[in-house]
Amino acid sequence: MALKTKVAGFEFDNCIMNASGVLCSDVTSLEKLDQSAAGTFITKTATIEYREGNVKPRYYKYNIGSINSFGLPNMSIDYYLDAVKQFQEKNPNKTYFLSVTEMGEDKIYDILKIVNDSDFEGLVELNLSCPNVEGKPQVAYDFETTERILTEIFKWFKKPLGIKLPPFFDMSHFDQMADIINQFPIAYVNAINSIGNGLIVHDESVAIKPKQGFGGLGGSIIKPTALANVHAWYQRLNPEISIIGTGGISTGQDAFEHILCGASMVQVGTALGHNGPQLFERITQELEAIMTQKGYSEIDDFRGQLQYL
Ligand code: FUM
Repeated sequence: MALKTKVAGFEFDNCIMNASGVLCSDVTSLEKLDQSAAGTFITKTATIEYREGNVKPRYYKYNIGSINSFGLPNMSIDYYLDAVKQFQEKNPNKTYFLSVTEMGEDKIYDILKIVNDSDFEGLVELNLSCPNVEGKPQVAYDFETTERILTEIFKWFKKPLGIKLPPFFDMSHFDQMADIINQFPIAYVNAINSIGNGLIVHDESVAIKPKQGFGGLGGSIIKPTALANVHAWYQRLNPEISIIGTGGISTGQDAFEHILCGASMVQVGTALGHNGPQLFERITQELEAIMTQKGYSEIDDFRGQLQYL
C-alpha cells in the first residue's frame, strides 16, 4: 500500500491508472483495467450521443512518441454511466473516474446535467482540451470562455469535478489560468492532454489522415512539458485542488518524477496502449523500488518536493 493516495478526499490503493482514451472505450476494456494493478480507471471521454470519431488511420506510433486524432469516438454518456454503475456495484469501496465533454457551452451544461442527475458516485472529469475535433477549439486555451463555463457549472453541479487541461507554455498563461481555477471548488486538475496539433512526417507523407495530419502528440517526447505543467500548477493552485500528472509515463522513474513535481495520481496513456494493462504491475514495482531505495514509505513523503538549484 506504499502507493496509496488521495484525490479530492477519495482514497486509492495505487496512484497509477490509465489516461482517458486508452483501452477504456467499452466494458470489456474497462474490465481489464479493473482487474489490473491500476488504482482505478477513467472512461473514454463521453459525449451525449455515440460518436464514430475521425477517419482512419488516426493513430501512429514512432520510436519516441505517438500522434493521434481520434476525434472523440465513444459509446455515449448513457453507456458509460451504465458501465461504471456495474463496476460500482461490484466494488462499492472503489472510486472510478468518468470523463465527459461536449462541443459548445450549452451542450457541456447538458451533459453535466445528465451526470448530475445520475447516481454516479465517483469523480467527474470535464475534458476541456481535446485537440482533434475539426473546427472546434481546445476550450481551455480560451480563458474567458473557461471562466464563464466554470462559473455556470459551479452554480448547480453537485458532484466532485476535475478538469483536464491542455499543456500551457507561457508563465503568464499559467498565472492567468490559475487565477481562474482558484476561484472554484475544483476537485483536481489533470495535466496534460496531448500536445495538440503536432505533425509527423512519415515517408514523404503525413502519418495520419484526419486534419491533414495534424494531431495530438503523446509518449516519452511530451514528458518534460507534462512535468513542467504539473509543477507549474502545483506552485499556483490552492492546495485543496489535487493534481493528476499525465504525459510520458512508461516507467516507475517517470511516475516518480510526476509525483515529485506535485502529482497525487499519475495516468498512463501511450505506453498503456502499446503494452496493455499488465504494464501497471511493472510501473508499480519500479516506483516502489525507487521509494525503498530512497527511504520513502509513502508518496506523500516526496510529493511536490522537487528541489531547485
Ligand atoms: O481525439 C480524441 O479522441 C482525443 C481526445 C482527447 O485528447 O481528449
